[in-house]
Amino acid sequence: MSMREKLLLLEARRAEAEQGGGAARLEAQHAKGKLSARERLDVLLDEGSFTELDRFVTHRSTDFGLEEQLIYGDGVVTGHGRIGGRLVYVFSQDFTVFGGSLSEAVAEKICKIMDLAMRNGAPVIGLNDSGGARIQEGVVSLGGYAEIFLRNTLASGVVPQISAILGPCAGGAVYSPAITDFTFMVRGTSYMFVTGPNVVKTVTHEDVTMEQLGGADTHGATSGVSHFTFDDEVSCLTAIRELFEFIPPNNVDDPPRGTGRDPRDRRDASLLDVVPDVETKPYDMRQVICPVVDDGRFVEVHRDFAPNILVGFAHLGGYSVGVVANQPAVLAGVLDISASVKAARFIRFCDAFNIPIVTFEDVPGFLPGVAQEHGGIIKHGAKLLFAYCEATVPKLTVITRKAYGGAYDVMSSKHIRGDYNVAWPTAELAVMGPKGAVEILFRREIAATPDPQRALDAKIAEYREKFAHPYIAAGRGYLDDIIDPRETRPRLIDALDTLRSKRDRNPPKKHGNIPL
Ligand code: HXC
Repeated sequence: MSMREKLLLLEARRAEAEQGGGAARLEAQHAKGKLSARERLDVLLDEGSFTELDRFVTHRSTDFGLEEQLIYGDGVVTGHGRIGGRLVYVFSQDFTVFGGSLSEAVAEKICKIMDLAMRNGAPVIGLNDSGGARIQEGVVSLGGYAEIFLRNTLASGVVPQISAILGPCAGGAVYSPAITDFTFMVRGTSYMFVTGPNVVKTVTHEDVTMEQLGGADTHGATSGVSHFTFDDEVSCLTAIRELFEFIPPNNVDDPPRGTGRDPRDRRDASLLDVVPDVETKPYDMRQVICPVVDDGRFVEVHRDFAPNILVGFAHLGGYSVGVVANQPAVLAGVLDISASVKAARFIRFCDAFNIPIVTFEDVPGFLPGVAQEHGGIIKHGAKLLFAYCEATVPKLTVITRKAYGGAYDVMSSKHIRGDYNVAWPTAELAVMGPKGAVEILFRREIAATPDPQRALDAKIAEYREKFAHPYIAAGRGYLDDIIDPRETRPRLIDALDTLRSKRDRNPPKKHGNIPL
């Protein structure tokens, strides 16, 4: 055969590989509102940047008639490409090939990608659409999953790992995403569960739909397994691209600089009117965050889960930062189990990847109650404390109003290595709010007066004058300054400038023992 004939054969085989599980299955995929594995990569990556690897790999199983169903590439398309010009490694599971299930060969292809990503310091993005372990391959497939889980774990904190769930992901197909840093889901087509509705019905007799059990809204708002929820795949894949405007390729390189032109010294007068005069009135902390960050752009993570705390990415003077903020508009911004876990995980991501943390604080404390205590608010709240304490990236804190009780300590206080801590004049730093404090300290005394309500009001006024302001903390140096809210942006940018060369290390150890 001549070179030209061999090239024609190569082209034919390449074309065959791109067919996946065939036209009928591709049509079924489209009919469900889903893109194919390759179409997804076209949306995700910079145009023309995808380089495929292992396109001629096939499965090795000879059982259940599989020897007659050899499909080039098997159930996954793998390779590397660019997002915003930066290198990323990708795998995209192909549901048209045995339901995207994981064979030995599929596992090897994914592991190769992960090993290359680790070696070259580049992120891994997994587009998951898989029925889990390939049933026909038995324990060999389970071994393949374990190889992936090991690599997910070793890569954690070294290169960012992103998972998009773009189909019904069951069994092993959900545990790898669960170890990765961020999970994206699509309403109506993506599902995550250990076992599906039929098994649930058999075991627990519960009737539940796919959507209720493991749909995008369930995991975005109730379980917190997923961080981002979208109405369609294109928006989902576009949002993954957007995330890479804030995160670095690995734990050694710096995050990318923002390209906005928002002036560094911009003072925002709207900040004067955000905090209500009445201390119990709610307000939306986004009205503080957006006017402060570059171009008002705040990319929220976990938007629908534990909305009493906000976390997300922004640029500030061009620096990429992770924002953590109590949200007074929901449950008064109280810290409960879900809020603690949400913020702790986000802080650990930022710390692992050299992203400074900016905290906006207005918090009445940890949520009391039997459900919270029995659910383990102590250990879950301790996660947040641990995460802030252990973080060595620049930590900046702005107290807008309440910083009460243990929550004052937790929310990046000076005592746990806060680098730049400031308060607005509206800040109140105390063990608890005025009413609660006075009722504990003076209950008997107040009850003995002829007009208890009047006595209570007088004591509250006295307490407020003594504690409900930031000057005691500033007098101790627990706050570096009390600032005009309009100056928040320039002050934070100036602090980030000074902290660029920050060097801080934790004592050498194998690893800490975060309360899990
Ligand atoms: C082999 C599989 C498969 C699997 C699906 N297929 N899952 N082949 N192994 N695990 C094949 C089907 O036979 C079918 O082939 C094609 O993929 C599409 O599947 P359908 O069932 O027709 O699609 P759909 O109705 O959309 O349902 C998708 C599904 C369902 C919900 C994912 O297929 C399903 O429940 N699969 C099994 C899920 C599961 O229990 N996996 C094992 C988990 S245990 P044809 O030829 O008809 O196109 C596990 C252990 C790891 O993963 C644990 C680690 C901790």
